[in-house]
Amino acid sequence: MTLSSAPGKVYLFGEHAVVYGEPAVPCAIERRARVGVQRRDDGKLRVHSKDLSLNGFTVEYDGSTSNGPDIDVSESLISAAMGYVDHAIEQVRDATDEDEVGFDVTIESDIPLGAGLGSSAAVVVAAIDAATRELGVTLETDELAERAYRTEYQVQDGQASRADTFCSATGGAVRVEGEDCRSLDAPDLPIVIGFDGGAGDTGKLVAGVRDLRNEYDFAADTVEAIGDVVRNGEDALANGDIDELGRLMDFNHGLLSALGVSSRSLDTMVWAARDAGARGAKLTGAGGGGCIVALDPTPETETALSFTPGCEDAFRAELSEKGVARLE
Ligand code: PMV
Repeated sequence: MTLSSAPGKVYLFGEHAVVYGEPAVPCAIERRARVGVQRRDDGKLRVHSKDLSLNGFTVEYDGSTSNGPDIDVSESLISAAMGYVDHAIEQVRDATDEDEVGFDVTIESDIPLGAGLGSSAAVVVAAIDAATRELGVTLETDELAERAYRTEYQVQDGQASRADTFCSATGGAVRVEGEDCRSLDAPDLPIVIGFDGGAGDTGKLVAGVRDLRNEYDFAADTVEAIGDVVRNGEDALANGDIDELGRLMDFNHGLLSALGVSSRSLDTMVWAARDAGARGAKLTGAGGGGCIVALDPTPETETALSFTPGCEDAFRAELSEKGVARLE
C-alpha cells in the first residue's frame, strides 16, 4: 500500500479570467485528500471512497466507465468520480509503461466536492503520486502537476486551467498564466472559509462567462479588469499587505458577480464576512454555490459566518506550504 496526500486550494484572485489567459493566484490550504493504492495484477480498478460525499461507496469494475458499477448513487456522481480516478490511472500507466496494471484505490478527503476548494485536483494529484510510487517511480513535481492537469483536462472536456493541479502539487501560493506556472512568496494569510453546503456546475458557469464575453465588449473588459486586479494582488502579496489584498479581493468578487457567477448564498456570506470586519471576501472557484474565502486575523468572521443563515460550515484554513505529501 502506498499513500499520498495533496491539499485543496482557494483562489485569492483570478478564477474564470484565467480561462482567457489572464493570470490567477490560487493558494494551497491545509485541507487534504489522501489516496492509498495497492497494485493488482488482474488489471482491475477497485475504488473505495469514505468522505467524498459519495456516502462511502465501494465499486469494483473492469476499468471502463461505460461498463459501470451497479450501486445506488447517482450516475453523474459515479461517472465524475470514476472518470477522475480512471484518467489518473491512465496517466500512471503511461508514466510507468505498465499498460495492464490495476489498483485498489482508497480515497479519503476533507475537502468538500465541487465547492471551489479544488477537491478533484487534490484527489488526482494524490492518486497519480501514490500509484506511480507503488510501481517504483517517483515523479518530479512538475511532471506530477502536468499529468494531473491532463487528467482534469480530459475529464472536464478541455475546460481546465493548470491552476488547481499545479497549486495542489506544489503547495503555497502560486501564479498561473496560461502554461506558465510558478510559486510565489506569500505571508501567512489569515484565511477564513465559509461553505454554503452546495456546489456550482463549473461547466455551465464557464460557458455562461464565455457567452457574456462573446455578447458584450464590456464583459470582455470585465475579464481583463480581473487580470488587472490579479497583477495588483501579486504586488500586495509580495509586500505582505493584508489590507490591500482584502480590498482587491472585494473588487474581484464584484467583477465575478458582474459576470454572473456569484449566488445569493455566496453574496450573503461575503457580506457577513465584511460586516464582521474581514479585510476582504470573495467567492472562490467556479462559483454558483460552494465556498467564499475571507481574510481576517481576528475570530470575528468565523464566528459571524457560523451564525449566518445559509452558511453550513465556517472554518479557518492555514496556508499549506507543502503540496503533495508522501506518507507511506
Ligand atoms: O471550482 P474550481 O475549484 O474547479 O475552480 C474553477 C476555476 C475556473 O477558473 C472557473 C475554471 C478553471 O479551470 O480555471
